[in-house]
Amino acid sequence: MCGVVGYTGKNQAVKFLLDGLQTLEYRGYDSAGVEVVSPSGNLHGVKCAGRVHTLAERCQAANLVGTCGIGHTRWATHGAPTDRNAHPHTDCSGRIAIVHNGIIENYLELKRYLMERGHEFKSDTDSEVIAHLIEEAWNGAARGNLVEAVRVATERLEGSWALACICADVPGQLVVTRKGSPLVVASTTDGAYAASDVMPLASVTSHVIQLNDYDIALLTPDGAVKVYDHDDEEVHHPDTIDIDWDASAATLGGYADFMAKEISEQPEAIERLLKDRLGQHGIELDELKMGNKDLAQIDRIFVIACGTSYHVGLIAKIIIQTWAKIPVFCEYASEFNYEDEVLVTPHTLCVIITQSGETADTLTAARRMKGMGCKVFAITNVLGSSAARESDGTMDIQAGPEVCVASTKAYTAQMVAAVLLALRLAQANGSMDQQEVERHYRDLQQIPDLIREVLKRSWQDQQAAKLFRNAHSALFLGRGVNSTTAYEGALKLKEISYLHAEAYPAGEMKHGPIALLEPGFPVVAIVPADHVHDKTLSNIEECIARGAQVIAVATDGDESVAKLCQHVLWVPPVPDELLVPIVAVVHLQILARYVARARGCDVDKPRNLAKSVTVE
Ligand code: F6R
Repeated sequence: MCGVVGYTGKNQAVKFLLDGLQTLEYRGYDSAGVEVVSPSGNLHGVKCAGRVHTLAERCQAANLVGTCGIGHTRWATHGAPTDRNAHPHTDCSGRIAIVHNGIIENYLELKRYLMERGHEFKSDTDSEVIAHLIEEAWNGAARGNLVEAVRVATERLEGSWALACICADVPGQLVVTRKGSPLVVASTTDGAYAASDVMPLASVTSHVIQLNDYDIALLTPDGAVKVYDHDDEEVHHPDTIDIDWDASAATLGGYADFMAKEISEQPEAIERLLKDRLGQHGIELDELKMGNKDLAQIDRIFVIACGTSYHVGLIAKIIIQTWAKIPVFCEYASEFNYEDEVLVTPHTLCVIITQSGETADTLTAARRMKGMGCKVFAITNVLGSSAARESDGTMDIQAGPEVCVASTKAYTAQMVAAVLLALRLAQANGSMDQQEVERHYRDLQQIPDLIREVLKRSWQDQQAAKLFRNAHSALFLGRGVNSTTAYEGALKLKEISYLHAEAYPAGEMKHGPIALLEPGFPVVAIVPADHVHDKTLSNIEECIARGAQVIAVATDGDESVAKLCQHVLWVPPVPDELLVPIVAVVHLQILARYVARARGCDVDKPRNLAKSVTVE
């Protein structure tokens, strides 16, 4: 969702602003804009609905020149995605400009107040009130002090914001602040930079400063960054993180799209995560920051997440309950936050799963659980994210930047992280002895090669994708852990191909969705060699009897499936049936990509979706 960038320094700002916005495209957006302080001492900006490349063409035509500026990609919340509503927004004088990520919840009240004071609004956005509030402060006691003007203005805001502001009267000054929305800054010899996340900064520095909520930073052209906290005290040693993603990790590197690249990176991502996890005393998960005694006492776990990460949670629930014998509740964060009764015990652990680490609903849930005295453990792909910073322990899944909006490598790496957590808990509370733990770990170590094998079979997915040519809908079925594989397969297909898909536990089909079946209707059935294989096979028979085209995901050598289904996505044998989802889902990722490409969809940037959902 919305991306914010800012630069002040020796170089032309527009280059970094446009490159930065392009890097942030993956977050999802529908319009974009930049504003610079021009050499004549005025603000000069360009903004438009549509893509960053359109903005770049318009910037060139407008000959935007200036060494201090801000930029934005907007994911519409208040007001349609039009040129007018695109950021930056300016005050009445046209000398103050802001870009904003987040939602100003009290904007209507503020807008009314500002209009009564004679301010004229040019957009339908909530964000524009910020520019006018800064103008009010600037024209009052804060004149000449942009940091102070931003502070006074933001004191009136309710909601969330990552904000960058420039003012033509103090050329070269860039002021940024945040509350609830991500923002990082960097100081270099070429100037100072701000961005919604580390990705745009990876090409200019390996060292970024993290701002806490309510911190305000003043960035100046000499590259200096001064951070002031909530009490207006200068923070002399702000939190920093080292970026270990090199900039090339976020380039296509010869692949047709990021989705293809990220699907293919899964074996290495999992190998990284598994490296050095088995020590003398079994599984090492020091990130939990809990010793054996505390872990052994855990008597209840809430796993909370959204979307694809929620599917990881469903698998975590089954595996933790099976191996560690601890009851697990898996909740959608957006639902959990509005449940009245949360039945925690003094030894309840909360696990949040969020690849971006910035999903607003998940963060709210984590804060709620913390407020109830629970320890919170985060599984995330972004070490400096809010989830990582606010949790008691964090497991960095080390999948590397995931640019495609649809999650693939983060999904499988998160599953592996959940399996490691289950093993660590089982080991601590004695549900498994060390030999068993080691055996499961060895099984897990086979996963990367099994995924490599599936990757070699992508031609099977390419063939199967043809069956969706005339489809309007599809059904995904699976049982046990693989009902989750079905959910994830349907979600991937929906989000990147815009083809409606539903997923059901296979046994539930008879209770409703079977009515959808008609000749040619595509059904994807996950039917590996496991203890519910024959039950799922019966469901496949029921589909075939109604003329559905079944695409089975089955284990190599399964003759019963081969006899029944014309189209099979073969999976090599996986040593433990609980680990099958990590391998089987790769076929469904590849299948969804082929279907989407055949339908002419942009697989990396599906419409309406955002990579990092920073509003509730
Ligand atoms: C789908 C997808 C989303 C995210 C969801 C939560 O491919 O990526 O469903 O899983 O928006 O995001 P995170 O994991 O960042 O909390």
